[in-house]
Amino acid sequence: MCGIFAYLNYLTPKSRQEVLDLLVTGLKRLEYRGYDSTGVAIDSLDNKDIVMVKRTGKVKVLEDAIKEHFSGGEYSEPVLTHMGIAHTRWATHGVPCERNSHPQRSDEGNSFVVVHNGIITNYNDVKTFLSKKGYEFESETDTEVFAKLVHHLWKKHPNYSFRELVEQAIQQVEGAFAIAVKSKHFPGECVASRRSSPLLVGIKTKTRLATDHIPILYGKDVDSSKASVLPRSDSTSEFMPEQKEVEYFFASDASAVIEHTNRVIYLEDDDVAAVRNGILSIHRLKKSLDDPHAREITTLKMEIQQIMKGNYEYFMQKEIFEQPDSVVNTMRGRVRFDGQSIVLGGIKDYIPEIKRCRRLMLIGCGTSYHSAVATRQLLEELTELPVMVELASDFLDRNTPIFRDDVCFFISQSGETADTLMALRYCKQRGALIVGITNTVGSSICRESHCGVHINAGPEIGVASTKAYTSQFISLVMFALVMSEDRLSLQQRRLEILQGLSKLAEQIREVLKLDNKVRELAKDLYQHKSLLIMGRGYNFATCLEGALKVKELTYMHSEGIMAGELKHGPLALVDDSMPVLMIVLRDPVYVKCMNALQQVTSRKGCPIIICEEGDEETKTFSSRHLEIPRTVDCLQGILTVIPMQLLSYHIAVLRGCDVDCPRNLAKSVTVE
Ligand code: F6R
Repeated sequence: MCGIFAYLNYLTPKSRQEVLDLLVTGLKRLEYRGYDSTGVAIDSLDNKDIVMVKRTGKVKVLEDAIKEHFSGGEYSEPVLTHMGIAHTRWATHGVPCERNSHPQRSDEGNSFVVVHNGIITNYNDVKTFLSKKGYEFESETDTEVFAKLVHHLWKKHPNYSFRELVEQAIQQVEGAFAIAVKSKHFPGECVASRRSSPLLVGIKTKTRLATDHIPILYGKDVDSSKASVLPRSDSTSEFMPEQKEVEYFFASDASAVIEHTNRVIYLEDDDVAAVRNGILSIHRLKKSLDDPHAREITTLKMEIQQIMKGNYEYFMQKEIFEQPDSVVNTMRGRVRFDGQSIVLGGIKDYIPEIKRCRRLMLIGCGTSYHSAVATRQLLEELTELPVMVELASDFLDRNTPIFRDDVCFFISQSGETADTLMALRYCKQRGALIVGITNTVGSSICRESHCGVHINAGPEIGVASTKAYTSQFISLVMFALVMSEDRLSLQQRRLEILQGLSKLAEQIREVLKLDNKVRELAKDLYQHKSLLIMGRGYNFATCLEGALKVKELTYMHSEGIMAGELKHGPLALVDDSMPVLMIVLRDPVYVKCMNALQQVTSRKGCPIIICEEGDEETKTFSSRHLEIPRTVDCLQGILTVIPMQLLSYHIAVLRGCDVDCPRNLAKSVTVE
């Protein structure tokens, strides 16, 4: 999805070249979100105009163009105060091209330039209105409409402040957006706002900030200097007596700001954040009863190393190999293996209410949805409640009935997926208890949930989700264990699962040792057109997830097939040339899986088999197998998915695909 990065240095000398470096680095940190074109805007040398550079393709292309464009020595002269904006675009309205790239401008004179993430749904109406006022449009984007709307308002209300102009404009647009606006008429100022799309502000000062909160100002005629996090000139703050230099970073997510500062404010829907004279203030037009008085400045826990590739070639590869650690981080401080107890701090106060519910609903998209499929059976077993798993988009399409005594789980790595967020709001309106299972602290799903579990997998940069899946899986298993704590009849089962969890990290390390073997298998497969992945029971989710990974990374067709369904159609696909992978483990459905295996081999299929270490009998059915360590049935899916992640990764590399940024995809899908 589109990525926004804006940088404002106030009384902090930086040359234009340094500013551009900062903007480009910010965009590089956002690359993983998925994009097809890029752009930046800075002040011209005489400060009377705005200069934009935009390119189709990767940030590297933009970087080269910037080097060419701003090579003169005058660009290395320091400027005391400056504001620049930058953007990675994931095309929604209009093809990827320079004309449609952001920043989009209000007029030929570049009075206002805008970067935007999201979709302005009423852009056609606004466009018609503005066309009648004489505006001519140069792009096919919805964003250009916003830039021109601000310009129109500026002409109409010449005395309005920059913030008031943007505030007026956002009231007239519908849909989802995060925006940052720059203007040549308001140099050194930035105005940003969000509705349903993420945006945060990073603050960097030389000394400690005067406060951890920034007051929210309401209404039109407000004095922004009263809401400063920085001391005003008359301030007697003991924390920052003289300090006024400050840098602000506006970004779609924390990975773009963490190398500069760990102090951030997550903006809420319809917040308008404005920086003027170096002072950041947050405004809202109307006050509602449950609005807080201030936005909190939070300290990010993320480390810069977490968003770097280290010695790995790709983020996805790094994230696959991080899983022995990420699963431990998910359990850290929660699971006590000695006392056999589990505490999930984020939901513990709600457990009595959850135990009284009518049903559990697990809702997500893509990989997150698969983690729900993977754990449904265990949740049913340990909670003895009906458990529904739902794809967020389909759930909304069906207007699914929801009741006050439902408990709805929203599973999302990014915490920003539009469909999942919409489904959350739908359920919340109907009075259900909302539980968020996310990897992104401060995300919309996180903030809009009543309670939840942070999966603590660490930043996931590769577009294809890997370590988040195994951590979501474990979070749901831990929840099932919490729900069954006082059930005597389930104690033996709980014990077996806890033991399984305690060995998991070591077993994942074992599975990762299959890497070379998986690469060899990938060499057999990468020129094929299709791959069928079959399994059932606890491993059906691995089939779905494995097929999704293969599709998104390698652009090959792949299908996860419930082995019990073979005879109902998919068996017709099997012959001696169709690549098949089957998961056949020693669990309650082993006999049925063997039955499916025989059906495949008797049609001359030659499947790759994922089986348990030392299972000689199963291995006789094929010369190609991957052996994984034995674990308790309900945790097998964590071990079986790893060879699938590796396989899709190696096939993608062999096919020359862009592993971390597959075509047409985005990491954080903030539009429906
Ligand atoms: C697949 C993948 C996607 C996401 C889906 C939901 O590898 O990453 O299918 O799982 O877009 O995203 P989140 O979990 O951020 O809600």
